[in-house]
Amino acid sequence: MTPGSPPGLRERAAAALTAARARTAALTDPVTDRDLTAQHSPLMSPLVWDLAHIGNQEELWLLGRVAGRESLHPEINPLYDAFQHPRSERPRLPLLGPAEARRYAAEVRGRVFDLLERTPLEGSALLDDGFAFGMIAQHEQQHDETMLITHQLRQGEPVLTAPEPDPPYEAPLVAEVLVPGGPFTMGTSAEPWSLDNERPAHARDTEPFWIDTVPVSNAAYQAFMADGGYGEPRWWAPAGWAQIREHGIEAPLFWRREGGQWLRRRFGVTEPVPGDEPVLHVSWYEADAYARWAGRRLPTEAEWEKAARHDPATGRSRRYPWGDADPDPVHANLGQRHLRPARVGSYPAGASPLGVRQLIGDVWEWTASDFLPYPGFRAFPYREYSEVFFGPEHKVLRGGSFAVDQVACRGTFRNWDLPVRRQIFSGFRTARNV
Ligand code: AVJ
Ligand code: FE
Repeated sequence: MTPGSPPGLRERAAAALTAARARTAALTDPVTDRDLTAQHSPLMSPLVWDLAHIGNQEELWLLGRVAGRESLHPEINPLYDAFQHPRSERPRLPLLGPAEARRYAAEVRGRVFDLLERTPLEGSALLDDGFAFGMIAQHEQQHDETMLITHQLRQGEPVLTAPEPDPPYEAPLVAEVLVPGGPFTMGTSAEPWSLDNERPAHARDTEPFWIDTVPVSNAAYQAFMADGGYGEPRWWAPAGWAQIREHGIEAPLFWRREGGQWLRRRFGVTEPVPGDEPVLHVSWYEADAYARWAGRRLPTEAEWEKAARHDPATGRSRRYPWGDADPDPVHANLGQRHLRPARVGSYPAGASPLGVRQLIGDVWEWTASDFLPYPGFRAFPYREYSEVFFGPEHKVLRGGSFAVDQVACRGTFRNWDLPVRRQIFSGFRTARNV
């Protein structure tokens, strides 16, 4: 056995990297060079930028910081630094072309596998538990979700296919459950590949609250629309009202009305909006307005995590709603196995002890909370992952979507975005005070 390798860790790191690369290939191999280099939305990078950026981050962290090697192509590093060039500018940079980007990412990966076989997975914060390798696998999977968003924004013929979800289903017995008040453990100090913003574990108190057993469905959201929700300022936060007025927003993104029916475009296919699926592609402002209309509110981030992790029988916080076991296809719709959410009421085996369903996977869930550091937060390994985004301008999303891989999704995982954003795979559930 190689020195400093807890059993199975090297294999787990290698498998996570390989799974991420297979996903990257599935998102880029069926795309023409022209579509890889085009910008499909000013909100997104060209796909070929994500591809080389994935390789470049892997090179900088694993071959550079971990192994101390010189850059293979130092002149390209600034092109793939997300902080030097906003997304809208990236198409005009002298980027690697599709063939060069693929070759570069593959060359880095070959060297990373050599490194992974030889390096001890302990002795520094980056190496302990293989953290740096896990971080890079998560980074690639996060960009795979970003690339799937670019696919959704792209016009033209569909190029992606996946089987329709057909998960276990049980009609939920009740619409909401009562989560008891009192302290619970939020965040983690134990999860080896948790990212800096999830740490450390700390006690958090909540009042008792009610929370929906399933995400808000398209049918429920359409009732808000049919009741004139988009025309009624009292439901909206002022900045949300200003946004929907300025842009003429009157439905979730990618929806359009035709002959009295709502249709949506999904990865190049137009189809009727399915009423029993979680609503998708809504902004925080839309989620907040719906909740107010319904006489409810968005859950806070702490309430969401308590509903997902707290086991009232033991008082412990678990890794996932169903317990500590890694996700499996009976628990949740993750990893781009399907290119859509599953209907509400799916995955009964993924429920929390109190019976809350579909907290993990399907749709990212907007919470009421701003993205802020936990008490005791320390930026690691770089300030630009989380710290520079802390503040009231970003709202927290929880739970992951069908587009995110399990390596980048757990009960403690925190995502964030601007409250106006709706191209992301976002939905929500609601809560209320007791
Ligand atoms: C955590 C999804 C907001 O995509 O901006 C990727 C993840 N950070 N590369 C993002 C990330 C650096 C990040 N989110
Ligand atoms: Fe990145």
